[in-house]
Amino acid sequence: MYGFKASSQMWTSFVLFLAAVFCLFTPAWMVKHENFKTCDQSGFCKRNRAYADSALEKSSWKAPYNLEPSSIKFSNGQLSGTVLKTVGDSSETVRLPLTVSFLESGTARISLDEEKRQKGDITLRHDSKARKERYNEADKWAIVGGLAPSKGAALGSDADAGTTVVRYGPAGKFEAIITHSPFGVEFKRDGSTHIKVNNRGLLNMEHWRPKVDKEKKEGEEETPAEENKDPALDESTWWDESFGGNTDSKPRGPECIGLDISFPYYEHVFGIPEHASPLSLKETRGGDGSYSEPYRLYNADVFEYELDSPMTLYGAIPFMQAHKKNSTVGVFWLNGAETWVDVTKAKETANPLSLGIGSTKTTHTHWYSESGILDLFVFLGPTPKDIVKSYGELTGYSQLPQSFAIAYHQCRWNYVTDEDVMDVDRKFDKAKIPYDVIWLDIEYTEGKKYFTWDPLTFPNPEKMHKHLDQRERKLVAIIDPHIKNEGNYPVVDELKKQDLAVHNKDGNIYEGWCWPGSSHWIDCFNPTAITWWKGLFKYSKFIGTFSNTFIWNDMNEPSVFNGPETTMPKDNLHHGNWEHRDVHNINGMTFHNATYEAMLERGKKGELSRPFVLTRSFFPGSQRVGAMWTGDNEAKWDHLAISIPMILNQGISGFPFSGADVGGFFGNPSKELLTRWYQAGTFYPFFRGHAHIDTRRREPYLAGEPYSGIITQALRLRYQLLPAWYTAFHEAHTQGSPIIRPNYYVHPSDEKGFAIDDQLYIGGTGLLAKPVVKEGADSVDIYIADDEPYYDYFDYTIYSGPGHKTIKAPLEKIPLLMQGGHIIPRRDRPRRSSGLMRYDPFTLVMVLGKDGSATGELYLDDGETFDYQQGAYIHRQFLFDGKTNFLSSVDIAAEKGSKGQKYLKTMKDVRVEKVIVVGAPKEWKDKSSVVVSEEGAKESQRKREVPFVWHEGAKGQADWAVVRDPKVEIGKGWRIDFS
Ligand code: GLC
Repeated sequence: MYGFKASSQMWTSFVLFLAAVFCLFTPAWMVKHENFKTCDQSGFCKRNRAYADSALEKSSWKAPYNLEPSSIKFSNGQLSGTVLKTVGDSSETVRLPLTVSFLESGTARISLDEEKRQKGDITLRHDSKARKERYNEADKWAIVGGLAPSKGAALGSDADAGTTVVRYGPAGKFEAIITHSPFGVEFKRDGSTHIKVNNRGLLNMEHWRPKVDKEKKEGEEETPAEENKDPALDESTWWDESFGGNTDSKPRGPECIGLDISFPYYEHVFGIPEHASPLSLKETRGGDGSYSEPYRLYNADVFEYELDSPMTLYGAIPFMQAHKKNSTVGVFWLNGAETWVDVTKAKETANPLSLGIGSTKTTHTHWYSESGILDLFVFLGPTPKDIVKSYGELTGYSQLPQSFAIAYHQCRWNYVTDEDVMDVDRKFDKAKIPYDVIWLDIEYTEGKKYFTWDPLTFPNPEKMHKHLDQRERKLVAIIDPHIKNEGNYPVVDELKKQDLAVHNKDGNIYEGWCWPGSSHWIDCFNPTAITWWKGLFKYSKFIGTFSNTFIWNDMNEPSVFNGPETTMPKDNLHHGNWEHRDVHNINGMTFHNATYEAMLERGKKGELSRPFVLTRSFFPGSQRVGAMWTGDNEAKWDHLAISIPMILNQGISGFPFSGADVGGFFGNPSKELLTRWYQAGTFYPFFRGHAHIDTRRREPYLAGEPYSGIITQALRLRYQLLPAWYTAFHEAHTQGSPIIRPNYYVHPSDEKGFAIDDQLYIGGTGLLAKPVVKEGADSVDIYIADDEPYYDYFDYTIYSGPGHKTIKAPLEKIPLLMQGGHIIPRRDRPRRSSGLMRYDPFTLVMVLGKDGSATGELYLDDGETFDYQQGAYIHRQFLFDGKTNFLSSVDIAAEKGSKGQKYLKTMKDVRVEKVIVVGAPKEWKDKSSVVVSEEGAKESQRKREVPFVWHEGAKGQADWAVVRDPKVEIGKGWRIDFS
């Protein structure tokens, strides 16, 4: 006995010792590459690259796709016709119906389908129940407007032989030149070409064909399919495809759709998130500093993802912009299937005619998706603003969130009890650190059964919610799409009974593994499933939730631990018998949408407040219903650094409400890293600290001094600037503009700044930040694009551009500048949560530009309901004219609705308590008052003198001045006379 015990202890120690040694020598965290396909391991990817290689190497290559001239029709802004694909060297042709639609917005849309499949005139293998058509419903999920046909679009009468020309767009300045043979389209604006489609002849629609089992003749060896000489026709992955022990049955055979799109004289392309890579997309076909894999879009739960990589991540937005000096154009490839994009850049030989029209490089892109129709939108700009606006017209603009949602969120996996939640809350208060939302990860549930609370650890959710509500704080609880497959769990019982889950290829409910173990997945492509889902969130159903509970949707790629590439088999079936293959990238959005709708309906009729739902997976359109974050990053400096380009990219790709886990999800950040991450996080549109269950606690008050104090300052900066942030969110909501903006977006003519992606502007405020992302750094080099004066936000040090400037940045310092010419709205009183700031007075920081003038905006509403849609908001423009010396507040509300007056009344005591003038003219030195006049004031009050103090700046710093308490109402018109 004793002997056994001794040896068992020895063994345990030995194993522990080995484990420790192993830990010392295992490489740092790394993505498991073997879990995810490379292009070579994805049949259609390999075929398309091979197709491109063989086409591009032949000078005689002519794409086998011809638009039949006799089929062309044009009416009501739409050209239609039939493209004929010639199959190999045969005389066989395949009919592909084409439409090219010209929209009132100036956007053009090219769609190509396959006639045989449209008609359902094909046979599926394996007795599959899958749909026969090419998937044609991506627009149903992604597009919400902007499809009105152009009234002015017309056929040009001057087309060359073999082409059809359509003039469209503003003042008919856009042109689409459609070449018939081979089929291709060239898009022109103001007479010059900006986009060419199928110019390199890579259009490739793999048409349906029956599988012919080659009969083996006696004595003949079967040639393995892989040995087909032309890799573009490599049949080895046509009929089934295996990866990681899973075989995809591919009942429809090969069906990819591929196309080349070129941007002549454009060197930079941006977009196609989500990748952990720089903003300006790299080349993907090898060579120095380039990737060798295409950018992949196949939503996946990539564990410990690697940086500077075109590997896929959790979400997909197949929208790309190309930018050159003073011109931006874009394309949106609307397809929900696995998609890859190759990017190459070619030097243009100097052409005198081309001088001054852009870069000397042309960017070629090559897009291919596994299935679905071809559906391409083309935007001709000419500004970055125009591009995001047109894209937003189609896919919808970013949600206007509740105001709490843009404040600070405190999350970890997990706050373990309801007492723990209240304890953390109290500690924030004790340390006087502002925060608005505390989050609950999966452990709050009873055994990972969503819509339940663990009775031992969360016995009193009501008390917890009430406690939070005292300071207007909220709780976000996680609800994932996998439903635990366990008896006596009413949610799974109903899901099964009503047959609302995703099915496997045989038509049975699909079963896989996720957090709860064996699970089923709700199929939110099914309208009945959505209705059912909505019911689950009713306060009466999800007991223990209240109006201050909000939702986090995670794992919605969907993540399936034992599935191929950690997701569902592609031959799974969704509602309408669409294969998962067709809709994979849309899947996450359908779940997110359903939760958003559920949140709208959970209360009594009329009790409408704006939902907040965070999602990990996304697709074009997700921006309409919530925020996203960049998933499971690591507590490392390079992960902090990559968060900036990733979030900038989200912004220019139509989904700007985005953030990264502050502090890093995996691992324990050093205190310096944590502090710098909070300082950077203050510039994320979605600002949340989060950490893995195995990490040490790291709430800001735990860091100790000086760290906790410095983090508190960063958080206070966020709260102080909330009015500016909210205004930027409103602009995103109405115009599609990014909330944080890269240099090229703000300075589209500044070529030197096109690739800059480590600094950012906040909305239209002129605030320019360059977060410190390097260990031990005590300064940063910031790039200034123009010759406006820039001032340090905190001490008004003057920086004159253009060029790189060094800003001292010891740990306590956030490099943040104010560009001259702006007026920035702030609220300066530190509070515990944003809700408590609702009626706080404003400070306006007037930063004079080089011409002595400045303008700014403020958008404000109740931050909670939809009443703003009925006029319950304040939208003011502040204008300071350096010639007249008047600062005025002008109403720029778009339309007055029925709820406008009532809202204004609630805001009547909210005033401007201070105006700070940065770069105040020396002539104002002896001034001790300014004159204020306000709309609607009593006669005796019409003109009031209020105190004014001018300060001389220290060396290198700007002079500044303060107007003390002008007491003007924020919602009214007024004027301050500085003359
Ligand atoms: C996923 C999420 C992470 C979350 C965890 C547990 O890894 O990305 O944020 O904490 O699941 O729910």
